[in-house]
This record gives sequence, C-alpha cells and structure tokens, in this order.
Amino acid sequence: MAENNVINIDFHSHILPGIDDGATDVNVSVGQLTRLKKQGVDKVFLTSHFDFRKERPATFLDRRAEAYEKLMKVYDPDTMPEMFLGSEIYMVRGIEECDYKPLELEDTGYILIEFPREQFGTWMFDLIETLIFERKMKVIVAHVNRVTAAYKKDVCKNLFDYNDLIFQINTEAFRGVFSPDPFKGFDISGLKFILGTDTHDLGHRAPDFDKALKKLDSRSLSYIKESVEYTTAMLNRRIEKNRNK
Ligand SMILES: [Fe+2]
Repeated sequence: MAENNVINIDFHSHILPGIDDGATDVNVSVGQLTRLKKQGVDKVFLTSHFDFRKERPATFLDRRAEAYEKLMKVYDPDTMPEMFLGSEIYMVRGIEECDYKPLELEDTGYILIEFPREQFGTWMFDLIETLIFERKMKVIVAHVNRVTAAYKKDVCKNLFDYNDLIFQINTEAFRGVFSPDPFKGFDISGLKFILGTDTHDLGHRAPDFDKALKKLDSRSLSYIKESVEYTTAMLNRRIEKNRNK
C-alpha cells in the first residue's frame, strides 16, 4: 500500500545469486533479504550489473530469470521484502540508441544507470541529454554520492541542473559518525532523491538501510529526508498503478 512519509523501498541491490559480484549463492540472498525486511524495507529492486559492451540484453535477461528462479525456491514473503526486477546499467560511450526497455526497474518505467569508473567526459552528459530530452526516458542516477565524491564540483553542479533525473543515494553515504552531508555546498533543493543499499553480501556490503534512516532523522539532513520520502511515495504510487495493468 502506498503511504506518505514512509521510506520503505531499497532501489539498488545485488541480491540475485551468482549473476554478478553480488550474492554468491541463495544463502547469501536469503540473508540479505531477511535483514532488509527487518530494517523496514517492504520492496526491493534486484539491480544486477548490466554492461552493453559485455552482453546483449536478451542474454542478461535469461541469466537474470535463471537466478530469480533459484531465489524463488527459497523465497518467503513473510520474512522478505517484495522483490522487483531491474538492472544497474553501466554508462559507456555509444549507447544512445540501445533498447533500454527490458532493463527498466519493474513497474516504474525508470532505468538505473551508473557513471563509469573513469575521468569525467562531456559525452556522459550528452548521453544523459539524449536519454531524457530526445528519447524522453525516465532516468535514475545510481549512487550519486559516489559521483559527488569522484567528480569536480562544477561537474556535479551541472548534473544537479538536470532536475528531471532522480538521484539514488547509497545508504553508505550516511555511515560516518557525524551524519555527514554528502551534498554539502550544493544547491539540491527541489531535486528528487531515493535510497538504495547497493548491498553485495553479508560482510562489509551488507544491508544497512535502518542505519541510514536513523541518520536521516538528524535535523541537518531533514532536507534530504523530505525529498526521499516524497520521491519514494511517488514511486510507490507508480508501482501500485502499473502492477495492476
Ligand atoms: Fe550497484
């Protein structure tokens, strides 16, 4: 049920077993899912890595379906969040015209795309502009806290000018002792933020959704919390609407 002021969706995870550098087997997946549920997550997106250079979407979807089937054999709706399929698309040159439809986060119409691990290049913004302005696609930028950590301030300011984008923050951004603000010095008013654990395992990348929620309660981060609540509620409504189609 869609509710206001509830942050209950993990938009970024690597839980599907044996498909990428996330969960190595279903036991890890089960551990991740049960922990997420205990941490207040009702819905989780399974966003396995996808790279257009490495495989065709159809091959990825087959692999993903196989992993999902394995997971469904041990899935328990009482102790685990509801699962939605998705992917985390690696940004590379020349993917302006690719077919993103099968890679979308299920029932949302959005794709999740991550900036590449390389120096900033203007082609990255060209690509984003093609996707959102020409192709009219709905785009979520994965772990934006890593973008602000890696790229120069001017670049990030320009990124935040694209207010059609949704920015996904990794819960790791709130791990510091003094509730660090990952967007200090940026004007991010009016932008849309959501949370993702980006969990890969049960070790140092285990789910930590509850800790991030707690940090967001601090007054200095309330402006981020409000945006996350608003955007999560919007996407909850979208999911409820689309799933009944
Ligand atoms: Fe990820």
